[in-house]
Amino acid sequence: MTVAEGVRPEVDARSLSDADVLAIRADFPILADEGLVYLDTGATSQKPRAVLDAERQYLEHENAAVHRGAHRLAAEATERFEDARATVAGFIGADEDEVCWTGNATGALNTIAYAIGNASAGRGGREADRFRLGPGDEIVTTELEHHANLIPWQELAARTGATLRFVPIDDSGALRMAEAARIIGPATRIVAFSHVSNVLGGVLPVDELVALARDAGALTVLDACQSVPHLPFDVRALGVDFAAFSGHKMLGPTGIGALYGRRELLNALPPFLHGGSMITTVTMERAEYLPAPQRFEAGTQPVAQAVGLAAAVRYLEGIGMARVAAHEAQLGARLAKGIAAIDGVRLLGPAPGEPRIGLASFVVEGVHAHDVGQFLDDRGIAVRVGHHCTQPLHRRLGITASTRASAGVYTTRQEIDLLLDGVRDAVGFFGVRA
Ligand SMILES: Cc1ncc(COP(=O)(O)O)c(C=O)c1O
Repeated sequence: MTVAEGVRPEVDARSLSDADVLAIRADFPILADEGLVYLDTGATSQKPRAVLDAERQYLEHENAAVHRGAHRLAAEATERFEDARATVAGFIGADEDEVCWTGNATGALNTIAYAIGNASAGRGGREADRFRLGPGDEIVTTELEHHANLIPWQELAARTGATLRFVPIDDSGALRMAEAARIIGPATRIVAFSHVSNVLGGVLPVDELVALARDAGALTVLDACQSVPHLPFDVRALGVDFAAFSGHKMLGPTGIGALYGRRELLNALPPFLHGGSMITTVTMERAEYLPAPQRFEAGTQPVAQAVGLAAAVRYLEGIGMARVAAHEAQLGARLAKGIAAIDGVRLLGPAPGEPRIGLASFVVEGVHAHDVGQFLDDRGIAVRVGHHCTQPLHRRLGITASTRASAGVYTTRQEIDLLLDGVRDAVGFFGVRA
């Protein structure tokens, strides 16, 4: 896989020293448990005290329903909520009204797919005509997507009669870009792809995919779940139309994610969920909707979660995303090199030396990933096992499950070495023959 312009952390940024990482670790209460080697950040990150404190402060002193109460507390809560949106928007290079809160990245991706489905069913008036899909139209995704960026498009295709196509990968997990250029064409209406694979750890060629989609007149939807927490990220520089990410993977709370969309697109799309907080006028027969972001935020909002996520963003900004990326790239390189050097273990994704975030998945030949995970857990090492919500990718690689180690800004080199020792010992313990 190639690295998109602007994300070459290991060459253009100063990384974190061991002392820096130890100081960062001290901010994460859960990491004070000396028995824990937490290498499951790709599933969910740990939370610094700043995030826990921000949520507690909000709930103890400012909690109220936002955008409705006439009282002082409601005004304060609304201000905190909208400040949080501004903080997150600034972090990704967007304007405030281009960031809609969702429950998580899955919610954000479903919001776009269902909104386009609603437009295809004739909702949204003439403005929404541009989104209408039907037979003959094509949605393109890739073979390495998380189920969250695959199944919503399967459902959209089934509802509209559009065809779902995918860009295949080669054996190393890299997208076959010649195939992408052949598949993305005049019939393509949507190109939905990950920025960083949650299994392979490599960065997809966003620039090339965006260029192909633009030439075809198609919309782009970026699953940024594994990039926003780990790399400098700017929606304008990337040139995507929509992007989705989760708070809990970027040191923030669960229960909040974000959908970025270009303003003119969000305001032309019909909503997905309907109810309170997203309307201007309602009669017994019909309703009119607010512009974005409220039009995509039906119901009572995740306020404490937004406040916590903004604290997470400020925490990351305090370190600097270039340094976060540089540190994690070094951990990823150490991980990949170490795993690849163990006989009887197959590293998935980019070869050692090629860019990856601080994440690597692997297969201990002849041993089920769950057994490997259990073996490591007995040493206090927390990893993810299974198909990581990417069954088609695992099938393509000829496996049913893998083990994934994923680092965060708080991960030390020593922890990577403990993992590598653990995998070596697992190979011996299970009697793997190379
Ligand atoms: C690449 C990718 N996309 C989407 C998701 C879904 O995120 P969530 O479960 O927070 O909605 C994940 C989570 O594992 C992911 O790694």
